[in-house]
Amino acid sequence: MAMNAVRICPSILNADHSRLLEEIGRVATADLLHLDVMDEIFVPNKTFSLEESREIISASPIPVDTHLMIINPDEAAILYAQAGSASVTFHLEASSNPSQTLKAIRGAGARAAIAIKPATPFHEVEPLLDDLDMLLIMTVEPGFGGQSFMSDQMGKVREAAEAISRLTHHKPWLQVDGGISLETIGIAAQAGADTFVAGSAIYKADDSTKMIAALRAQAQEIHNA
Ligand code: DX5
Ligand code: ZN
Repeated sequence: MAMNAVRICPSILNADHSRLLEEIGRVATADLLHLDVMDEIFVPNKTFSLEESREIISASPIPVDTHLMIINPDEAAILYAQAGSASVTFHLEASSNPSQTLKAIRGAGARAAIAIKPATPFHEVEPLLDDLDMLLIMTVEPGFGGQSFMSDQMGKVREAAEAISRLTHHKPWLQVDGGISLETIGIAAQAGADTFVAGSAIYKADDSTKMIAALRAQAQEIHNA
């Protein structure tokens, strides 16, 4: 039996948007559906409006993990929580009052999470650990799927995992996002990540159910070792 649960979160960013409902159905054996919201300001790409996000959330057979890559997330975050996201993640770099935003997300009934970009050091988010249900350490520059995994982020993942292990009351999940595949998931699991976003690895696979199981097995094996 696993001591630490492993969670796999397929990102629909690189799914076929012309048949999204079918694409969402392909990943029903995963733990959370990862929904990347981009505003073309915080990142050079635009995706899913709030209305589209609502439709995706209501169509998804599994809980939705919303990743906001938008400026001024402090007001918008609560709308995505109210829309039924199981979890709402916003970027520390974009927030002017992260601690209040985390509270607002929790108040609306969702798990509250913060993401940090590759250039943001862990110590900037560390004071907020107690208020976090999940910390997302980006393993690519946010904006696009299909980029290469940045293994130079693993020191930060290890630092975060150590800080989390020292917490006594509660343990936020530690998520990585970007370039996760069968080749890289073990590296991230070894560094201490327990929650894995995978976009192209899952959607480019012929059998996404098998790929989800294989990714889970690789990460689980490391956590059990
Ligand atoms: C990138 C997004 C990711 C992306 C991951 O900014 O946050 O969630 O979809 O895609 P892959 O797994 O292809 O790197
Ligand atoms: Zn993402």
